[in-house]
Amino acid sequence: MQWRRRHCCLIKMTWNVKRSLFRSHAAGFLSLVSLVGILFFCGHHDWLPGRVGRRENPITYTVRGFRSQKSETNHSTLRSIWKEALPVPPKPPVNASAYQAEVSLQGVTGLENSLSANNSVNGENGVGGQLIAKPFRYIINEPDKCQDRRPFLILLIVAEPGQADARNAIRQTWGNDSVAHGLDFIRLFLLGVGKSGNMYQQHAIEEESRHYRDIIQQDYLDTYYNLTIKTLMGMHWVATHCPQTAYVMKTDSDMFVNTEYLIHKLLKPDVPPRQNYFTGYLMRGYAPNRNKDSKWYMPPELYPSERYPVFCSGTGYVFSGDLAEKIYRISLGIRRLHLEDVYVGICLAKLRIDPVPPPNEFVFNHWRVSYSSCKYSHLITSHQFQPNELVKYWNHLQSNKHNACINAAKEKSGRFRHRKLHWRMGQ
Ligand SMILES: *[C@@H]1O[C@H](CO)[C@@H](O)[C@H](O)[C@H]1NC(C)=O
Ligand SMILES: *[C@@H]1O[C@H](CO)[C@@H](O)[C@H](O)[C@H]1NC(C)=O
Ligand SMILES: *[C@@H]1O[C@H](CO)[C@@H](O)[C@H](O)[C@H]1NC(C)=O
Ligand SMILES: *[C@@H]1O[C@H](CO)[C@@H](O)[C@H](O)[C@H]1NC(C)=O
Ligand SMILES: *[C@@H]1O[C@H](CO)[C@@H](O)[C@H](O)[C@H]1NC(C)=O
Repeated sequence: MQWRRRHCCLIKMTWNVKRSLFRSHAAGFLSLVSLVGILFFCGHHDWLPGRVGRRENPITYTVRGFRSQKSETNHSTLRSIWKEALPVPPKPPVNASAYQAEVSLQGVTGLENSLSANNSVNGENGVGGQLIAKPFRYIINEPDKCQDRRPFLILLIVAEPGQADARNAIRQTWGNDSVAHGLDFIRLFLLGVGKSGNMYQQHAIEEESRHYRDIIQQDYLDTYYNLTIKTLMGMHWVATHCPQTAYVMKTDSDMFVNTEYLIHKLLKPDVPPRQNYFTGYLMRGYAPNRNKDSKWYMPPELYPSERYPVFCSGTGYVFSGDLAEKIYRISLGIRRLHLEDVYVGICLAKLRIDPVPPPNEFVFNHWRVSYSSCKYSHLITSHQFQPNELVKYWNHLQSNKHNACINAAKEKSGRFRHRKLHWRMGQ
């Protein structure tokens, strides 16, 4: 929207300047025709869901990468920075055995260092390869949640212990059982423990859990740097207590998720569930951040390679139920890296499973897409929502979902008329 507005104002300004130059009617008329033409062109782009979102939100790696840039950002500069961030092609192998190692890891150089790392979690793998021993003790678990059912979808939602408001907003909106229209559906919030000594908070969480039965918690410290542990807790839960689920989505508590679109347009309950399926916002060719002050700093000792394997933004990814166990198992032999989404990407690379792009590139967004019922009825994720905004926009979308884009078209033509009028008055 912002892009369009700015773009069109620029044209308007140009017109104002030109007006003084073109005194004759003929020139004025010609300018009018071209102005209307350009306005129409601008306006046209607006109703394509997602398109605008892309423009006003340059692909920026939020939360786990680069901060989302506001509209002032020079997009072409951003793009060239990104190009620079892309890795140089892998160096030619020094000798045959080095080459072999590289090829066997799908060209992800350096991965082998992570894979063969002497890690401390080997003991997790129980006798006979069963998922017996758990890395961290469950404080709150829901082991029977999935008994005698085969859910279509499990939502694993990363939340901090203190975010009761966000959990409640999600329960009322995209995580509410009503969104699945009778399809079996499970919502689970993933929690670690808050800072020690906060017994009041822990009691409140246990109370909340008794009431909603949608919280699992293990006794690791709930911090950003422990997100990988949290994600693996979710994988472990699915693998152990609900391996029969058709699909799983892992997402965050500050996300807007159009669960209906996800279920009916992406996953499609009426076709047989996929296997080895993993999708989301694909991050390709990313280089590890070597700036020590960055939240996303990756020490070369931990990850020496010049680029990460393809991974999906951790703000929201979706996978088939069979992958939970595969990812969890393979993770037992891979040194834990704190960047959760990168880590899952490494697990997939080791499993030789390529994340697949979603049907169109606008459905998974790891930035905030400006709200319109039309756009939001055609996307799966949008980022950075406060609990009250989530409720507000969700309710608006629900009450407009059957004519989400008709209104957008009307609004558009209304604005178009308004602008034309404005222009006439300016004559
Ligand atoms: C944007 O960046 C490009 C490339 O760095 C530069 O050529 C251009 O002048 C910049 N535009 C603005 C408005 O800063
Ligand atoms: C070839 O590569 C392997 C593994 O990187 C290394 O151990 C070995 O010393 C190398 N051989 C030569 C001749 O460079
Ligand atoms: C791996 O860990 C074990 C036990 O902590 C230690 O004894 C051993 O030296 C380590 N091996 C390497 C290669 O670091
Ligand atoms: C789900 O939504 C309904 C209707 O809005 C509401 O009454 C119910 O409390 C919600 N469920 C949860 C768990 O909040
Ligand atoms: C992760 O959790 C463990 C277990 O509670 C804790 O010892 C560790 O400090 C946490 N790590 C970070 C970086 O917060």
